[in-house]
Amino acid sequence: MSAIDLHARASKDFEAQLAETKALLQRAAAEFGPVTQASSLGAEDVVITHLINSLGLDIEVFVLETGALHQETLDLLERTRATSRAPVKVYRPVAESVVHFVGREGKDAMYRSIELRKACCQIRKMEPLARALAGKQAWITGLRREQSAARAEVPLVDTSEARIKLNPLANWTWGDVWHYIKLHKVDYNALHDEFYPSIGCAPCTRAISLGEDFRAGRWWWEQESAKECGLHVKKEEIAA
Ligand code: ADX
Ligand code: SF4
Repeated sequence: MSAIDLHARASKDFEAQLAETKALLQRAAAEFGPVTQASSLGAEDVVITHLINSLGLDIEVFVLETGALHQETLDLLERTRATSRAPVKVYRPVAESVVHFVGREGKDAMYRSIELRKACCQIRKMEPLARALAGKQAWITGLRREQSAARAEVPLVDTSEARIKLNPLANWTWGDVWHYIKLHKVDYNALHDEFYPSIGCAPCTRAISLGEDFRAGRWWWEQESAKECGLHVKKEEIAA
């Protein structure tokens, strides 16, 4: 059974949410420029890239290619670069930093402590993210409220940080995301057909079983409260 068969089910608000999402993306391109979409190549992000392309918006897409992504994700990245009208930029970690870290701490360091896991995320995600966002006034993510308790209050437009963050799918359900993918035959990550709801680095992402929480497959060996990689952690939370 494919992810489409399993999940595609429009909520009663689907049409209204879609209209709101389109309006926000159009506004982003017109008012918040230069703006860029962060794509993990997961289901939410392929929907947003599809909308950017179908609306013909002047918004770039970027992918943090951490050097630890699944082959399925790299394959989708290649297909997306070949077909997307919007430019798709790829940001990789500094090679020497990765070689140095892996040489010192080993390939499986992330499982040994939260500090080492965060150090790996710093090198593979956070530093490249800073380069991807340099010169951008706003960025677009695929965060949804439904994804976790920590994300339950994600706003459509987040102005709490120096750089505006737009979350155009904040109110979409998982069923809505798959309904859109089905309706528009959007190319998606093959991992979703293997019961991966959320797409991250290979060592830190696993499939989930029926009834498990949406983010259960991410950093599953850690406490719930620690399970964000820093991409979406607020400054005040880091301080706390
Ligand atoms: S994470 O913080 O746990 O990694 P998650 O995988 O849920 O985040 O993704 C949330 C949003 O963060 C995605 O919709 C996307 O906008 C952005 N994002 C996550 N991973 C990447 C990546 N590798 N490259 C670019 N953007 C990403
Ligand atoms: Fe490293 Fe895992 Fe973070 Fe990817 S998610 S950067 S592999 S610790």
